[in-house]
Amino acid sequence: MAKFNDIDLSRWKEYEDIETDSLWIIERRDNSGKHDGFYHGNFVPQIPRQMIKRYTKTGEVVLDPFMGSGTTAFECEALGRNFAGIDINTDMVKYVKRSFESDHNTFSGVNFHYMLSSDSTDFAAFSEIAGYLASKGINKVSHVILHPPYYDILKFTDDSRDLSNSDSIDIFLNRFAKVLDNSLSLLENNRYVSIVIGDKYTKGQWIPLGFYCMQEAMNKGLTLKSIIVKNMAGNRAKQNKNTIWRYRALNSDYFIFKHEYILVLKKN
Ligand SMILES: C[S@@+](CC[C@H](N)C(=O)[O-])C[C@H]1O[C@@H](n2cnc3c(N)ncnc32)[C@H](O)[C@@H]1O
Repeated sequence: MAKFNDIDLSRWKEYEDIETDSLWIIERRDNSGKHDGFYHGNFVPQIPRQMIKRYTKTGEVVLDPFMGSGTTAFECEALGRNFAGIDINTDMVKYVKRSFESDHNTFSGVNFHYMLSSDSTDFAAFSEIAGYLASKGINKVSHVILHPPYYDILKFTDDSRDLSNSDSIDIFLNRFAKVLDNSLSLLENNRYVSIVIGDKYTKGQWIPLGFYCMQEAMNKGLTLKSIIVKNMAGNRAKQNKNTIWRYRALNSDYFIFKHEYILVLKKN
């Protein structure tokens, strides 16, 4: 099998930090380094860290078309990977750019963090990234991490092109599929895509957003490699409401959300 990471199998017992199970219980967000977790809707740095270590080599490029507060970008910096990112939230892109200007980690092998404030459903942003990569003598990215809004659970901006402002689930999935298409055009063959997504509950019904997004990815001809279930913990707002949710659940017919998915797919 082609090598797509830096894991040295002659020392395989030493990689205790790398997950290989499909159930991830992460007790606490790692807020070390540049991660401070202020952005509502961010993911824990441990997610991109696992994906980067498992699916990329030092010096390769990771693409995150929903980069938000830059969690993937900061992990790339710490792990010596290059980064290309897009977000429709201009303030966030400015914030992440500023964090690199003020305190640049000169980890060997990191040459660039290229970020655009743009709409990831529009191919123009990806063509700009392709142009930038070409100027560096690079053809393709080696991994794509997609952490879209969980439909309308949390509104990120007032921009109508923001996926969290989609008028229906079909429109949301259509837009997600476009971002996927655009991202795949930049991904090397035989490399991997991670999709981080949770479900939602509305009007008395569980909406399996995770499985819908997974189906969109499989419709693109990607091979499903893993469905990882990760616990959701440490959300202060939810903790305070735990008892009332439990009361409501006992009084009704549903279970309380405690997990989200990390879907791993391969581009053939
Ligand atoms: C779940 S958050 C990602 C958070 C990120 N992983 C982090 O740790 O900060 C989803 C992001 O998608 C962005 N977004 C929504 N629609 C978009 C679009 N059409 N193009 C680019 N970004 C978009 C939102 O602004 C938001 O920052």
